[in-house]
Amino acid sequence: MISIKSEQEIEYMKVAGKIAYDLLMSLKDIIKPGITTKEIDKYAYDFITSHDATPAFLDYEGYPASTCISINDMVVHGIPDDTKIKEGDIVSVDTGAIYKGYYSDTAYTYIVGRVDMKTEKLVRDTRKALYDGISKVKAGAKLNDVCKAIGEVAKRNGYGVFEVLTGHGVGKTLHEDPYIPNYNNHESEGIILKEGMTLAIEPMFSLGTKEVWLLPDDWGIITRDGSNAAHFEHTVLVTHDGYEILTGE
Ligand code: MF3
Ligand code: CO
Ligand code: CO
Repeated sequence: MISIKSEQEIEYMKVAGKIAYDLLMSLKDIIKPGITTKEIDKYAYDFITSHDATPAFLDYEGYPASTCISINDMVVHGIPDDTKIKEGDIVSVDTGAIYKGYYSDTAYTYIVGRVDMKTEKLVRDTRKALYDGISKVKAGAKLNDVCKAIGEVAKRNGYGVFEVLTGHGVGKTLHEDPYIPNYNNHESEGIILKEGMTLAIEPMFSLGTKEVWLLPDDWGIITRDGSNAAHFEHTVLVTHDGYEILTGE
């Protein structure tokens, strides 16, 4: 069942979305060589709580932090620790806020200093896939139009698309129906978007394989071949003639 949010619920999600977006934008000046992922997470915790919101991930199914910070070949769900950011890393930060019971979910991949051209292009293309997907959102469209648009970017460039990692509905909880795969698929073809649905759209691509390993901490997910991976995510509202990005400008 895909829930339709009321105007009041959407107002709360907009607040939750803006806090998470402002946090990710302010991290551009914070993510520098030498800082640890734990220090970044502390900054995020302080940022979210000082804006009258609650970190959406903290204690979610036992998750111990306010952010997931995933470096280079880590795809998602990196638990912040004493790892120091270094020149040449790509660092994905995924975060969310809860405001009056309503969730936002958003991620951004930061390039630290200079990276090789392939990696730089991967980051740029993953971001483009997010916006290509979002551009298909409107009441009456098929969910698969979004999935297909994202998957096309990966196909054109030969990136790995992880079948076990998908976007999702979001709102009253962090993960709601429907699943939003990052590739053309039959299931999404039968789902028609309606005004008031709220979706977390989140392309994740690698320079190599689409296969992943789960780390022994039971959270961190890395590419099996050690290739770099990028991740971008927005919480998006379906409107009658298009969309509104709740975690953006
Ligand atoms: N934000 C992730 C997603 O995009 C989920 C994180 S779950 C957590 O779906 F527990 F790791 F926080
Ligand atoms: Co997320
Ligand atoms: Co998500």
